[in-house]
Amino acid sequence: MEIVYSVKDMQHTADKLKHSSLSIGFVPTMGYLHDGHLALIKQAKEDNDIAIVSIFVNPMQFSPNEDLDKYPRDFERDEMLCEQNGVDYIFYPPKKGMYPEGFQTYVSVDKLTKVLEGASRPTHFRGVTTVVNKLFNIIKPDKAYFGKKDAQQQLVIKRMVKDLNMDIEIVGMPIIRENDGLAMSSRNKYLNLDERKSAICLHRSLDRAEELIKLGVNSADRIKNEMRKLIKSYKYARIDYISINRINDLSELDTIEKQNTLISLAVFVGNTRLIDNIWI
Ligand code: PAJ
Repeated sequence: MEIVYSVKDMQHTADKLKHSSLSIGFVPTMGYLHDGHLALIKQAKEDNDIAIVSIFVNPMQFSPNEDLDKYPRDFERDEMLCEQNGVDYIFYPPKKGMYPEGFQTYVSVDKLTKVLEGASRPTHFRGVTTVVNKLFNIIKPDKAYFGKKDAQQQLVIKRMVKDLNMDIEIVGMPIIRENDGLAMSSRNKYLNLDERKSAICLHRSLDRAEELIKLGVNSADRIKNEMRKLIKSYKYARIDYISINRINDLSELDTIEKQNTLISLAVFVGNTRLIDNIWI
């Protein structure tokens, strides 16, 4: 496994791999890897000749009042996990390498980013699409792997790739969870013991929603109310949003559809903002 720090070296390496007709599977991450990331990495390795993982805590996708400075980092551990999971290259650029002085070009997806996470974090997706676009240009992957944990992110990236005619297949991967159902996330590290117990409310509320749908309930309001009630019974939880949307265009649904429905939520547990979702 090789660690590549400079953009130029990474571009050069990717070009060489392409000329050798080796297929590239790419997993963009912000590091502090967990089993969710590793599932993406394993799939990238299985599907392609070469697996490349980027580790870059992208300042552009954090707003000034968010957790950029305290975002967890442990490069040595990440390096070991990548090595153990068959990664060929880690791309680990410094901030200046990605955003040199004078940087002023952005990529943004319009309607899809105005709702859900985009409504709560208005500048977030522009940062994500800009950095992912840059990473795609540098690494030139055949396939790139994204988790459904960030459901809207995956839809937005798919839209960008389609709209900008990028010849890259976006592969969506299922959510990996802890034993009690909490979706794995680098941010789970912020939770203290009491908050960790409360954090299960996201998954529990989605389970409840699924149960109600199985019982024949199809009113989105009724389901959201039940979810709200359940979450409010957890001490450290404060709801940011609960939403039920059509998957393709993220339009809000009043009535659950049998397919293509996304139920998603963001909840502050203490000061930590967690997200989760199910696709129906
Ligand atoms: P990060 O939060 O590090 O996540 C990297 C990838 O891992 C994303 O595609 C995310 O959806 C996936 N992932 C995270 N937790 C997961 C889980 N529990 N199960 C399955 N997949 C999971 O998402 C980002 O970084 C950034 O926005 C990035 C795309 C790298 C751009 O900066």
